[in-house]
Amino acid sequence: MRAEEIGRLKEVALGEVKAAKTIQELESIRVKYLGRKGLLPDIMGALRDLPAGERAAAGLAANAFKEELGATLQVRRCELESNRASGPSRLFDPSLPGRWRPLGSMHPVSMVIEETVRIFSRLGFTVADGPDIETRYNNFEALNTPDHHPSLDPTDTFWLDDNKILRTQTSPVQIRVMLSQKPPVRIITPGRCYRRDTTDATHSANFHQIEGLYVDRNVSLADLKGILAFYAREMMGPQVRVRFRPHFFPFTEPSVECDFSCHLCEGSGCRVCKHSGWIEIAGAGMVDPRVYTKVGYDPEVVSGYAFGMGVERIAMIKYGIEDIRMLYENDLRFLQQFA
Ligand code: PHE
Repeated sequence: MRAEEIGRLKEVALGEVKAAKTIQELESIRVKYLGRKGLLPDIMGALRDLPAGERAAAGLAANAFKEELGATLQVRRCELESNRASGPSRLFDPSLPGRWRPLGSMHPVSMVIEETVRIFSRLGFTVADGPDIETRYNNFEALNTPDHHPSLDPTDTFWLDDNKILRTQTSPVQIRVMLSQKPPVRIITPGRCYRRDTTDATHSANFHQIEGLYVDRNVSLADLKGILAFYAREMMGPQVRVRFRPHFFPFTEPSVECDFSCHLCEGSGCRVCKHSGWIEIAGAGMVDPRVYTKVGYDPEVVSGYAFGMGVERIAMIKYGIEDIRMLYENDLRFLQQFA
């Protein structure tokens, strides 16, 4: 076959490739021209029968045929494959920008917990953990809470059986930690708590606390006040004010409640702080000697403080959230504000 004929056959072959509709069709075209018994090997083999003057030109044409056909087959194969993947006639375009997948973000409750852990770990506190299902003993008795205390009432606490409850506070982790290690102890423990509260703008039956416990020698109430004031400034900024009110908890003596000035209205009064300018953030106090005797610590030797902070409360004033329920409804319009 002479060069011109080879060129013409090449055009035919390339036309067939471009018109091929399926991978199978493409494959049979390849076999027809390039296969071991195909047309091109035939043509190559017949080159030496040509007159010497035409041989070189025909050889070049045959090589060009082979090369172009191979390349065109490959391109068409890619086209057919990408069509198959993404529907009719949509070719793969590597220059298109990628599709943007929506990214999640931290939940405000998690942000407060993470930030709190960060602040307290700089002060030497480590994180301890305890189960949501607690024993009556750890949640009440070991915390010096008598059987007749109203918090044991089934209208206040979720009882699973006579001895198991959903913990009403993170304070039972204090007991677990002190039973498992000798003083000094310096821990914080974030976690879920459960109470049979009717849900409203500031209450939820399932909320979060962060418990803190520091037991050593010569720990004083002044240390407690200092650490909570430090925490408040780190969390809320230097303008925050902190106040302590006398209170009662069965497991601390003396006991206090700790309020932060409202971050939103800076103390002048708004809906979130119920127009008082203050928000109750934590219960706290010096660990009651009776608790030490339950865990085998010597109350004559050690002293310490404990506190329990409301995570949702902190999130509400830090981020200006007026209703606690927004934290649980998983409305993306709300959550995306924290991205
Ligand atoms: N556990 C108490 C509560 O839930 C808070 C608290 C913790 C008080 C530690 C004193 C010490 O109200």
